[in-house]
Amino acid sequence: MPRINQKSEVRSQRSAVRPPAFDLASYLETRTVAVNAAMDRFLPSEKAKPATIHRAMRYSLFAGGKRMRPALVLAAAEACGGHEADALPLACAVECIHTYSLVHDDLPAMDNDDFRRGKPTNHKVFGEGIAVLAGDALLTQAFEIAAQAKGWPRYSHRDLILEIAKASGSLQLIAGQVADLEGEGKKTSAAHLKYIHERKTSALLCCSARLGGMSANCSAAQLQALTDFGYQVGLAFQVIDDILDVTQTSEQLGKTAGKDTKAQKATYPSIIGLARSRKIAAELTAKAFAALKPFQGRAVALEALAEFLLKRDR
Ligand code: IPE
Ligand code: IPE
Ligand code: MG
Ligand code: MG
Ligand code: MG
Repeated sequence: MPRINQKSEVRSQRSAVRPPAFDLASYLETRTVAVNAAMDRFLPSEKAKPATIHRAMRYSLFAGGKRMRPALVLAAAEACGGHEADALPLACAVECIHTYSLVHDDLPAMDNDDFRRGKPTNHKVFGEGIAVLAGDALLTQAFEIAAQAKGWPRYSHRDLILEIAKASGSLQLIAGQVADLEGEGKKTSAAHLKYIHERKTSALLCCSARLGGMSANCSAAQLQALTDFGYQVGLAFQVIDDILDVTQTSEQLGKTAGKDTKAQKATYPSIIGLARSRKIAAELTAKAFAALKPFQGRAVALEALAEFLLKRDR
């Protein structure tokens, strides 16, 4: 038998026993298209009066974010046997919350950033007043969208709204942002930095995974697994964000690199150095993988996402 045939036979035998590697790039592409189309339907048109605010909301929302939180919602729903259509409004709601938090995070009164998602920041284009209002409007829009999601036997509308409100409120996302601001220029312990990361970043990623499960009417055990997964992935996400701020260029990130050092932000690289920060991110990702055990290999998209988030370069 010619050599080439032997090889292809081995390959076909292998593919018969092992599923092909998960294609995360095309998974993300199709989900991003679906999420963008849904957000376009949910948001008032650019022409709706007053046009400035709707232009400003859409400017940041469609500026080209990675859509990691919506992807988490959809992948978690899938892992629990849910339907994309049921999870989609919740995926859009978390992206609106996330985008609002970025618009406000970039304001001169906060991180004072000029670039975001590869473009001038919202306040650079529309002015500070409109940027504040665009953030407010995106936050409110999130609840309007979430209210249009279906309720499920185990999770009512009330549960869904409460979930989003708690993750973005003054005990979680806002608490993290407050502590982040108050930590500037101060010596910060690793424990307090973890407190900041849990709130400013992990809370919304964890909420995303949980909402996906809820949209599939998941069991209590599945919800616990998604909570653990989202929490660990969320912590890893911010450690990586801090690392990328030091190691990447502004062009690569689509936002100004090196800002954390300039602003004397409390970050993992500044407290424990790059090498140990990388080790911590890998350990957190390993814990996230371990949390998916109850899914017995059915959470392939979530696994691929966790790996991608660890290895990402922007
Ligand atoms: C940036 O989030 C803000 C953090 C919480 C670290 P992303 O890195 O997900 O930003 P986009 O959505 O891709 O722009
Ligand atoms: C942002 O954290 C977290 C929120 C917006 C809630 P960062 O300030 O580190 O995010 P970037 O680096 O500006 O994207
Ligand atoms: Mg910030
Ligand atoms: Mg910032
Ligand atoms: Mg950052």
